[in-house]
Amino acid sequence: MQIGGSDASTAAVQPNAASKQELVQQLATSSNTDGGIIAQLTSNPFFTAGFGLAGLGAAATFARRGVKSGAALLKRRLLVDVEITNRDVSYQWFLYWLKLHEQGRLVQHAVSAGRKPSSMSALLQRLTPSMRQLSIDTELEKLPNGAIKANFVLVAGPGRHFLRYHNAFIAVNRQRETKQYTADGKPWETITLTTLYSQRHVFESIFTEAHALAVENVEGKTPIFIPRSTEWKEFGNARPKRPLESVLLDEGVKERIVSDVQDFIASKKWYADRGVPYRRGYLLYGPPGTGKSSFIQALAGHLDYNIALLNLSEKGMTDDRLNYLLTIIPERTIVLLEDVDVAWVNRRDMGGDGYNGPSVTMSGLLNALDGVASAEERIIFLTTNHVEKLDAALVRPGRVDMTVYLGNASVYQIQQLWKRFYDDVDPDGVHRQKFLETLQAQGMLRVDESGASASDVSPAAIQGLFLYNKDNPLGAIEMAGQLLPPLQGSPSSISAADKS
Ligand SMILES: Nc1ncnc2c1ncn2[C@@H]1O[C@H](COP(=O)(O)OP(=O)(O)OP(=O)(O)O)[C@@H](O)[C@H]1O
Ligand SMILES: [Mg+2]
Repeated sequence: MQIGGSDASTAAVQPNAASKQELVQQLATSSNTDGGIIAQLTSNPFFTAGFGLAGLGAAATFARRGVKSGAALLKRRLLVDVEITNRDVSYQWFLYWLKLHEQGRLVQHAVSAGRKPSSMSALLQRLTPSMRQLSIDTELEKLPNGAIKANFVLVAGPGRHFLRYHNAFIAVNRQRETKQYTADGKPWETITLTTLYSQRHVFESIFTEAHALAVENVEGKTPIFIPRSTEWKEFGNARPKRPLESVLLDEGVKERIVSDVQDFIASKKWYADRGVPYRRGYLLYGPPGTGKSSFIQALAGHLDYNIALLNLSEKGMTDDRLNYLLTIIPERTIVLLEDVDVAWVNRRDMGGDGYNGPSVTMSGLLNALDGVASAEERIIFLTTNHVEKLDAALVRPGRVDMTVYLGNASVYQIQQLWKRFYDDVDPDGVHRQKFLETLQAQGMLRVDESGASASDVSPAAIQGLFLYNKDNPLGAIEMAGQLLPPLQGSPSSISAADKS
């Protein structure tokens, strides 16, 4: 910065002595003169001040432009971005991964706080910034007893975060749109991950890890989907799988349904070759507490399938929406339509909130069940307590291909339930026999000459009695009389008879 103020002040006191002519002459004789033209120019304070300043300005502009385009080039060449939107399934996986990654770091930090960390790891620890802006993700889960449980998860909030993963630094930019919303009313979001081009491979391992975590999260569990607007959304946390053995249906019933479903799943080509829509419908009917819902849940777990719960009486459920939802069922999913008979009740009742009951019509349901054949298999289970209320068109083959009655407990089911609870305290089955005789004596259980049996007690009621008398078979026998009294006009049909 020699050219600055001192030279300018020199210029002010020294008048311009050199005329144009002299300058030309000087130029012509430059080779002979002392020091040459360059030396003279540089020794001339006016020249150096003017040209120097201009040169500096130009250099600064060039530098600025250079830095800008250099940075852009550098960014293009050296950095790599990955963008994920919250419509993509990997979005939640990544947030979950990020949360665990950060938790892992905290644990690491706590561990290294206990012992003296090496100077290198301490430096890296300090150099790695942690997430500062967090946001809460709350999931409401409805427990079987009807209570609502809230699960809170702290996740990286909108804004910029930095993280270190396998010694690569990654910038995470979570942006939230204020004007665009997803179908279920959540703001549109994108996450952009940026790292050095040379370290781009870390993205692959991050997403592989995130996917493995998501799979691990649902392993041994049955994810439940419910409709949200025009999409299926996972509802709460996936439920632990219910073992198929824990549902005790009458002899052979479970096996028959399971093998039918498995056979269907394995017959994709068979259906395609014959141009038959690749779908199968099942109807389970019978009194309350006979294991209809439990069996479907256990079946989904057994097949490693999800469950998509459809409630026809839900507010805002229309024929069109139902139809659409049935065409976009998530992969490997059993659709469950519970209490299919009550969907039509209250159609004309006007609720206090102006809600005038379900707007799905029987013909709408029939059409939706017939719907456009999808490439993937479609398995639908309908349940009802009142099969007599169902429209004959609903249960015709093509809509419902297998109808199974799950009735009150048979002798076989009671024996199986007993064994599950009291096998260790009643190994020879003496008390079991006594329990059955008590039920018979009280008129709740009937056995005909062929050995076929029917009762008025649901497996749910028997399970309740056994749970109350845990490890106490004698208590269960004593309290047997408190099981449901025989119902007036109860069916005396043999339970679990397949009416398909
Ligand atoms: N056959 C069964 N084997 C084992 N447990 C059963 C059986 N039936 C019912 N239960 C138990 O009883 C409870 C209620 O059963 P579930 O909800 O499956 O009955 P459901 O037939 O769907 O009744 P609803 O018609 O009222 O919907 C569950 O806790 C379940 O474990
Ligand atoms: Mg049920």
